[in-house]
Amino acid sequence: MAEDLTIQSGSKVEQYQSLLPQIKGLLQGESNLIANLANIAAALKQQFNFFWVGYYLIDDNQLVLGPFQGPVACTRIAYNRGVCGTAWANNETIIVPDVDAFPGHIACSALSKSEIVVPLYRNHTLIGVLDVDSSELDSFDEVDKKYLIEINAMIEDNSLTLR
Ligand code: SME
Repeated sequence: MAEDLTIQSGSKVEQYQSLLPQIKGLLQGESNLIANLANIAAALKQQFNFFWVGYYLIDDNQLVLGPFQGPVACTRIAYNRGVCGTAWANNETIIVPDVDAFPGHIACSALSKSEIVVPLYRNHTLIGVLDVDSSELDSFDEVDKKYLIEINAMIEDNSLTLR
């Protein structure tokens, strides 16, 4: 695999369309879940410079901080708590245009203003969530949802040995 990333300018769709095959290439031939999640977080950070991007993984009935890029973050989130715990409980993607308007939002950083959380599956089982935070309001829409779901689906299809 190539360990460098070509950064695309242009519309959000164009950026995702350039990034997706590159992420697929990064994952190809690598079966370690943590390594692959780490590279996905890094690739998303490099392309979009999101304020915070990373994974929380279910461990002992809690979400525990996994590979991420950005400022330090809370390590554990309970079921049905915050945006991440709610996405887990409801088994659905959640777009939050304004985190202050989301009841129970967990503020790891006061600088985070909007957020999207996308469930992560392996073998049809929910194993965690991808959380992306922006320092601006209303950063995420259906385009992000579509492509971030596609990115997480690469993990579902990846024949992983870990976890
Ligand atoms: N805001 C999230 C917590 C995780 S941090 O943003 C990295 C939530 O409400 O679940």
